[in-house]
Amino acid sequence: MPRQILVTAALPYANGHIHIGHLVEYIQTDIWVRFQKLRGHRCIFVCADDTHGTAIMIRARREGRSEEAVIADMREAHMRDFAGFQIQFDNYGSTNSPDNKEACHQIWAAITKAGLVKTRSVEQLFDPVAGTFLADRFVRGTCPRCTAADQPGDNCSVCGAAYTPADLRDPRSILSNAVPELRSADHLFIELEQLRPFLEDWSQNGGHLQSEVARYLKGNFLGDPLRDWDISRPAPYFGFEIPDHPGNYWYVWFDAPIGYIGSTREWCRQHSEHVEAWWGRDSAAEIHHFIGKDITYFHTLFWPGMLHTAGLNLPSKVHVHGFLTVDGEKMSKSKGTFLMASTWLRHLPPGALRYYYSTKLGPGLDDIDLNVEEFVARVNTDLVNKVVNLASRCAGFLAGQTLADTYPDDGGLFAAGAARGDAIAAFYEDCNYNAATREIMALADRANKYVDDLQPWVIRKDPARSAELRDVCSVTLNLFRQIVVYLSPVLPGLAQQTAELLNQPITSWDEAARPLTGTLVSPFQHLMKRLEMKQVQAMVEESRQENAAEQSAAATPVAQSATPVGPAFHPADRWQDAGDALKNEPLAAECTIDDFTKVDLRVARVLEANHVEGANKLLQLTLSLGGGEVRNVFAGIKAAYKPEDLVGRLVICVANLKPRQMKFGLSQGMICASGAGGTEVFLLSPDTGAVPGHRVH
Ligand code: MSP
Ligand code: ZN
Repeated sequence: MPRQILVTAALPYANGHIHIGHLVEYIQTDIWVRFQKLRGHRCIFVCADDTHGTAIMIRARREGRSEEAVIADMREAHMRDFAGFQIQFDNYGSTNSPDNKEACHQIWAAITKAGLVKTRSVEQLFDPVAGTFLADRFVRGTCPRCTAADQPGDNCSVCGAAYTPADLRDPRSILSNAVPELRSADHLFIELEQLRPFLEDWSQNGGHLQSEVARYLKGNFLGDPLRDWDISRPAPYFGFEIPDHPGNYWYVWFDAPIGYIGSTREWCRQHSEHVEAWWGRDSAAEIHHFIGKDITYFHTLFWPGMLHTAGLNLPSKVHVHGFLTVDGEKMSKSKGTFLMASTWLRHLPPGALRYYYSTKLGPGLDDIDLNVEEFVARVNTDLVNKVVNLASRCAGFLAGQTLADTYPDDGGLFAAGAARGDAIAAFYEDCNYNAATREIMALADRANKYVDDLQPWVIRKDPARSAELRDVCSVTLNLFRQIVVYLSPVLPGLAQQTAELLNQPITSWDEAARPLTGTLVSPFQHLMKRLEMKQVQAMVEESRQENAAEQSAAATPVAQSATPVGPAFHPADRWQDAGDALKNEPLAAECTIDDFTKVDLRVARVLEANHVEGANKLLQLTLSLGGGEVRNVFAGIKAAYKPEDLVGRLVICVANLKPRQMKFGLSQGMICASGAGGTEVFLLSPDTGAVPGHRVH
């Protein structure tokens, strides 16, 4: 009986790019979804960007544009990264969508009606210049214990003291540098304690949670009265305004999980289905959430509580995973191990990470470690030497011919592999991918032994043994294909290549139980290259440089606004731009589009920046357009920029400017900047997502 399964992965924040830590989750979930689909179940995978909250508001101000523009760009970047890692969503939405808003209203109405909402006044620091309340991390000041300067609002990085932002001496808002004031505002709270009987039952019975998660909730939360949950924020806040409380917005964690429903609604509309068929109380659908352990509380107490109150379908299971470490340590920006998905894809194939994570992921909450040496060795040993090697040692001998018309006697190897199908499937179902890959590699070992024993490369030398050669190669290619079917949730790329090689798509798990006969064997194409340690090293080095550049950019203060920024102000009033710049340099004569396109503007990365001996205005820059294409450029920006702040950042350059011999060397282009000159120089940079080599149109 096919199951009906709705799967979600946590909604990534729209204020940052996808990194390899995130990918633990999205890869884990994608494998599970592909597995369910391969088993013939009706399964959809929905996700979305988590777009609301203070961080996005601040980022938008820093970049001088609207929140909507920031989240639109980030959504594209996220979707590109996910596609690059072969993560296939049925719908990728946004929490800032009309569908989500409607779902929020519906759930809010139910929670209010159930009498769970109450109002209480909350004291919080307020930035009078930026016109916003400040989350702890937006306040810095002197540590009240050790007097270290410039410490964050929650704890001291020097002596480790924990405190509240109000305890800081000389506190400053990092948004405007203003001295924050303590102000109080009314917040709305949900009384979770009222839901205790339901939460105790749901979390402890019915197998919805891994046993360690159920124990954690019991030991840490359910033992005491459940604390009220603060779910509103006063304006200004980027989010949905609460219908019956104008000027107040739902806290991002209220509308984020509802985003699962919002995204499902979108999918349903595109597929002429009803959302009730998935989320309705009487729905037969199973709901499976995949999350990291840091957001357990939200998904195992708040969220089921909200669904229960709204009379909706409850999660069948919340699958919680551990955190990624790299070489045994937390991912580190300065070490270059805080690797972005896009950086990875510039150096290494996605399948390598998908496979490696599979070998590490179990059903529990243990952290998983990416050990880079083990990674290279594991991928080469298992995938290149064991799996792909099976095909590469035989496929060439049968290229242009067909597989044997009846499956030859293989001493029971294929049948033995088929018999492991249920056990392997059970491991996938339990998210025990590590056990699944071990089983599959054991099959690969047996298949390799078969090839080693029968030596097709020897048989091939004797024309009288051509039928035997065809049989041995047909067996080997079938054993290979059986392994690929089992691995296909992890390695969809390899499954696709194998389908092309043997001219038969892989669409069902059962194909691992049916040998293929009589199909044409295509010319053999390389399936997977050996990984080299130096590829990993180059990637880590690039990541280190990118992070250094990003950090220097983040150190610049957020754009200050003279008027308090909030929804009450018209956008045009916010920025009050004077006309001086335009007056000082009037517009140039009209040009045609052809004039403009003659100038080839490109995104470039500053690889090196140095002082030039004897030049008091110039810096010498080495710009990369990607793919090894570099330009040497002298730029008159010395008074405005320090060389070390430029390395790694993206700029816009004129890439087809006629080279010019200067006293200091050959200049092969220009970089674009605005401003009057001297210290008043402002380099142009593209929005997040752009890469070196992009043309500016
Ligand atoms: N926006 C929230 C989730 C809302 S769900 C209604 C959020 N976003 S996140 O971008 O910070 O994280 C998304 C997911 O990635 C979370 O499940 C988180 O646990 C996971 N991971 C983020 N960093 C991770 C590692 N370093 N390692 C493993 N998983 C990690 O939380
Ligand atoms: Zn201190």
